[in-house]
Amino acid sequence: MNPILDIQNLSKHFTLHEQGTQIPSCSDVNLTATPGQLTALVGPTGAGKSSVLKCVYRTYLPSSGGMFFTQEDGSTIDLSGASESEMLRLRERDIGFVTQFLHCLPRKAALDIVAAPLIRQGESASRAQSEACELLRVLNVPERLWNVPPATFSGGEKQRVNLARGLIAKPRLLLLDEPTASLDPDTTDRVVDLLNSIKQQGVAMLAIFHHPALVDRLADRVVELTMAHNTTELPA
Ligand SMILES: Nc1ncnc2c1ncn2[C@@H]1O[C@H](COP(=O)(O)OP(=O)(O)OP(=O)(O)O)[C@@H](O)[C@H]1O
Ligand SMILES: [Mg+2]
Repeated sequence: MNPILDIQNLSKHFTLHEQGTQIPSCSDVNLTATPGQLTALVGPTGAGKSSVLKCVYRTYLPSSGGMFFTQEDGSTIDLSGASESEMLRLRERDIGFVTQFLHCLPRKAALDIVAAPLIRQGESASRAQSEACELLRVLNVPERLWNVPPATFSGGEKQRVNLARGLIAKPRLLLLDEPTASLDPDTTDRVVDLLNSIKQQGVAMLAIFHHPALVDRLADRVVELTMAHNTTELPA
């Protein structure tokens, strides 16, 4: 199976103009993600794991390197040079991102937050809501919370809503940044089952997990990031 994403020599650094320094966040990263498989990113804190995902989603603009993404029609696009409108289109259907935290909209019910990505893709509201209910049930979110805005939810409850929202639309490439960090063992097991079933449906995943045991249970390939070079001084 050909990779859907091929990252070559990706580096990202931040320039602190006031201090005249550059902070490297990831350096010379090479990896692939393949449909139906999970590539796990591992490495010490600060090695740049989250930064790699943010570059792929283009929250961060890479400093150098290529991120070659195969689109549904078979054509390849380098995400590092893609325009903002191309990225918006890809985020709608092709590339999903589940972060550790839910940045929730005030006064919007959990069920509507989860259903929204499907409705944006053109699914009917009733179908989207019934799929959202199904996912919230699988992820153990108590039914009494479904019509409540998640602002007051516990960390674990918010994370489950976040996961449900990220998984409902089944993007072709799913980015996961510590999606189970605040979940209890039972819910973590449910998430593992859910991710395995999504994998079997052909979704490619690039993921960071808090617990090494989850890497063992889910990863088909493991890529280790080492610490980028130390902060370098910019020429004066
Ligand atoms: N927006 C930013 N501005 C400045 N520096 C940043 C920014 N984002 C990340 N960095 C720096 O890049 C380095 C890598 O950060 P990143 O969050 O990618 O690491 P990580 O491997 O995900 O770490 P952790 O395991 O703790 O989540 C860190 O030194 C961080 O301070
Ligand atoms: Mg991180």
